[in-house]
Amino acid sequence: MKDTGKIVGEALTFEDTIIVPGFSPVEPSQVDLHSSPARGITINVPVVSSPMDTVTGWRLAVRLAQLGAVGVIHRNMSVEEEVAHVRRVKEAPQEPFHPYETAREGVRISGPVKPTVITDTTGRPAGILLPLGSGPHTFLLEDAEYTARLVQAGVRPSLDGMGRLLVGAAVSPFHAERAVALERAGADFLVTDVAHLHNANAVRALQDMARRVGIPVVAGNIGTREAALDIASKVEAIGGFRVGISSGSICSTGVVAGASMPTLQAVLNVRSALEELGLAGEIPIMADGGVRGPGDAAKAVIAGASTVMGGRLFAGVEESLGRKVRVGSRLYKTYRGMASRGAMEERYASDRYSKPSKQLEEGVEGLVPYSGPASKVVAHMYFGLQAALGYSGAGSIREAWENGLLARITPTGRGEVNPHDIILSP
Ligand code: XMP
Repeated sequence: MKDTGKIVGEALTFEDTIIVPGFSPVEPSQVDLHSSPARGITINVPVVSSPMDTVTGWRLAVRLAQLGAVGVIHRNMSVEEEVAHVRRVKEAPQEPFHPYETAREGVRISGPVKPTVITDTTGRPAGILLPLGSGPHTFLLEDAEYTARLVQAGVRPSLDGMGRLLVGAAVSPFHAERAVALERAGADFLVTDVAHLHNANAVRALQDMARRVGIPVVAGNIGTREAALDIASKVEAIGGFRVGISSGSICSTGVVAGASMPTLQAVLNVRSALEELGLAGEIPIMADGGVRGPGDAAKAVIAGASTVMGGRLFAGVEESLGRKVRVGSRLYKTYRGMASRGAMEERYASDRYSKPSKQLEEGVEGLVPYSGPASKVVAHMYFGLQAALGYSGAGSIREAWENGLLARITPTGRGEVNPHDIILSP
């Protein structure tokens, strides 16, 4: 058959690849995961929550920064409201064992736990918290347990130079005023929040916005090498790239519009552009969309990402912005795409997908199982990433970029890699 030049390559997904096991000089527990969500900013757990109106507000952002990760406040609200969320994070205590809102005042929970030892504020043991079915006790117990595991592993809160919790904030590249207000409120970095940044007007607007703020601006979303080369050449001191188009669990762009760049391939593309520019490792890549757990996150890192961004990962946690819904005996939380009908009805999200697409839904809305405290997800990601990078032979994120390898796997191989020939216990 004649090559018409229309098929320009392959677009690999997390599912298409496996991590190649490599010689590891260190134990997984020694793998150092510190990394950068944006240029000049360091966190201990390379995981960032998505700026979505059922995911990240101040409450999740506070908890993630206390646990070594970071959140990006969504922008589907007025400038004043978004500024208030940022301020609340900057004013929150950094202490990871900070008593949860529902805890008795003056009571602290210390680890190691199971059962959980409760101490008073002077450190004296005040009792033992046992799992008592569902409810706030179970939540507190789990939260204390996972927090204790992270603290014992050496994870420290994500802090700015003044000892305050780190926080990112989402902006449209067209709203420089919002960007300036968020910087004044104390946001540590900004993340542009448009589905297809590689657009003449959006890039022009971003050039202007980046000149008007002093904090790093993570530019996205993009998916190609060309977009990274073009934007890096036009926008001064880019603070990072947010990459991946239509891989998100709630995305329907790939179906409705047919356009997509799976997150893993987007990372590979942008990393190759940055290598060409001699900026690989300097401009952080945030892998956004479709990350289901630490295995996917590790693949993104090996491909060249500094951090992974997750919406679905955090949508089910207590601290997310989604509403709790009970269906029968089970608890769920609402989760929706920012281009879903519900999100776009709130006027601030409507420009995410360019003006004409106001009439076009590019996201879905639904429910995800309630999954307890955010600390449980952070611990799962942290220890899972350490294990995954351990398999790859890398002792750090940088080593994973340099030495980590991925291999393509066939669909039959994928079947073999996933659990098979067993009826799973409920
Ligand atoms: P996950 O898989 O973590 O993906 O739930 C979250 C990411 O998906 C993007 N996003 C959307 N993409 N339509 C889309 O095509 C939408 O309505 C939508 N809302 C969010 C976004 O990049 C987010 O971080």
